[in-house]
Amino acid sequence: MKSVKDLMNLAGRTVAITGGAGHIGKAMADAVAELGASVAIIDLNQDSCAETVSSLSEKHGVNAAAFPVDLAEEKAVRALPSAVADKMGGLDVLINSAAFVGTSGLEGWVVPFEEQTTETWRKAMEVNLTSVFTLSQSAAPLLKASGHGSIINVSSIYGVYAPDLRLYGGTGMGNPAAYAASKGGLIQFTRWCSTVLAPEIRVNAITPGGVFRNQDEQFVERYEEKTPLQRMATEEDFKGAVCYLASDLSAYVSGQNLIVDGGWGTW
Ligand SMILES: NC(=O)c1ccc[n+]([C@@H]2O[C@H](COP(=O)([O-])OP(=O)(O)OC[C@H]3O[C@@H](n4cnc5c(N)ncnc54)[C@H](O)[C@@H]3O)[C@@H](O)[C@H]2O)c1
Repeated sequence: MKSVKDLMNLAGRTVAITGGAGHIGKAMADAVAELGASVAIIDLNQDSCAETVSSLSEKHGVNAAAFPVDLAEEKAVRALPSAVADKMGGLDVLINSAAFVGTSGLEGWVVPFEEQTTETWRKAMEVNLTSVFTLSQSAAPLLKASGHGSIINVSSIYGVYAPDLRLYGGTGMGNPAAYAASKGGLIQFTRWCSTVLAPEIRVNAITPGGVFRNQDEQFVERYEEKTPLQRMATEEDFKGAVCYLASDLSAYVSGQNLIVDGGWGTW
């Protein structure tokens, strides 16, 4: 029987992570690199990808490479998995963490429902959901060949629960419909893929709760009050979940949504 250390070892495996230069993506990349994985950082911005890559290789001595791409560009997305495999020798784990988020600064996004625009809804669906479909489809042959294929989709509590607007009153913060719909869709796409891509590829989701980023004080207070563990999340809180789902620690786990929200949705 293998030891826990053997089961969590990612040496010799390549993990590709979209949004890998973002807050949560970076923490997840750091976690899998610590377990020995080679890491492909996929994100919009060339400089932030390159920065993340050099800090990963310096800190963990692993192979890491940058793949700057706009996930709204279907052709570029479709070509990504083979580009990663060509450069890094294969593809074993795909983590989809990129998204238009609350702070993305789009027009017609974090505004009251009647002001949310169809154009921004479409853009958000394209990046948050459609790109995950395209990428999963084009990565599937490589992940199947890996022998340890795993897809991890990063959803949100707002893909599971309705927003409690009492948290937002007077803060200027908001909760776009397209964000919720795309993240809910991602969870069902996860389940769908988990049977269709079985038995070679495991497909699971991680559902983070709200991360503390110096939000409005009233919001933070109300959010903490509603959270059994009495605090907002930190990026570090998702390291355990991603290491579990990326490695053989979860070799018999597929089709699941691991909610990491401090108990926020348990009431
Ligand atoms: N921060 C939270 O409170 C929270 C809560 C629940 C779920 N999440 C989810 O966690 C994930 C990461 O969120 P985060 O807080 O780290 O946000 P973030 O903005 O720091 O990271 C998202 C990354 O995605 C990249 N990205 C966005 N559009 C892209 C595109 N078109 N092409 C390529 N890359 C693109 C951004 O450049 C950014 O680096 C998201 O899927 C988000 O929905 C976050």
